[in-house]
Amino acid sequence: MSQTTAKSQTSSETCDCGAPVILKTIVFMGEPHTLKEPTCDCRDIAIAKEEEDVRNKEKRFAFERKQKDLDHLTNDHFLRGVDGEITFKGLDRTNNKRIATIEGYLDNLGDNLKDGKSFGLLGKAGRGKTALMICLHKKLIENGVTSALVNAPLFFPKLDAMGIAEREGCVEKLMKARCLFLDDLFRTDYTPAKRELIYRIIEYRYPLCLPTFFASNIYDKNAEEIRKKMVSSLGSGEVSEAIADRLFNERVWLVMFIGGESFRQGGLK
Ligand SMILES: Nc1ncnc2c1ncn2[C@@H]1O[C@H](COP(=O)(O)OP(=O)(O)OP(=O)(O)O)[C@@H](O)[C@H]1O
Ligand SMILES: [Mg+2]
Ligand SMILES: [Zn+2]
Repeated sequence: MSQTTAKSQTSSETCDCGAPVILKTIVFMGEPHTLKEPTCDCRDIAIAKEEEDVRNKEKRFAFERKQKDLDHLTNDHFLRGVDGEITFKGLDRTNNKRIATIEGYLDNLGDNLKDGKSFGLLGKAGRGKTALMICLHKKLIENGVTSALVNAPLFFPKLDAMGIAEREGCVEKLMKARCLFLDDLFRTDYTPAKRELIYRIIEYRYPLCLPTFFASNIYDKNAEEIRKKMVSSLGSGEVSEAIADRLFNERVWLVMFIGGESFRQGGLK
């Protein structure tokens, strides 16, 4: 291409930063053209920032789409149910240690997610296990982390009414959520087909270090006993063992909910 630089001269214009702008006259296809060339990086920096803004918007959009799908599948009425808006701010902090532990997940969120850290909330009824999972789940979403909260006895029967394609789509979305909360997984009986399906979800998530939180009324001082109780509640057998082994793994921190009273009994005298 015939392009030659003819001459450069300083213009009277300056960039907003004060740097001079050079006028360059080039001859292109036989015609002279004058170009303004800044002597600073402001324009490059502005373009890079604009590109980053676009990338961030795309990421945000992808996140919102995925999260909307997950909300639609799982929480819709469960989260808004009888308890209304449950958030960390509104909690009674009498048993502050449990709350601080769960809320503390957010302090080191990047590393916790990378390490696949999760909590197993175990203990007596009405102590606030579900409430704390809901609080953390909501905060994760606020932080741009896709999260699904499934109440097992409510959720798994819902799958029965679906066709295969819809069910598979639903299961795949759950598998891939960055964080998954399984509430009361051990409270209900499962058919062998349901157990297989639960196994597939956990089996997918474990090697990818995707945090899978769970809450249950199962509790014991001894971790091996907890695992045994999990297996027996899931219906025993190899699949149940495989689920418990992956779910209750070395990245799970147990939080016990034994002491105190049930919040459900608080108003009764
Ligand atoms: N820290 C808290 N402050 C105020 N209310 C709470 C708190 N924790 C839980 N609650 C309320 O107490 C009730 C019982 O809590 P939640 O459902 O979380 O208990 P749970 O431990 O999951 O019980 P279960 O084992 O029966 O599922 C709910 O209405 C919940 O909103
Ligand atoms: Mg609960
Ligand atoms: Zn400049």
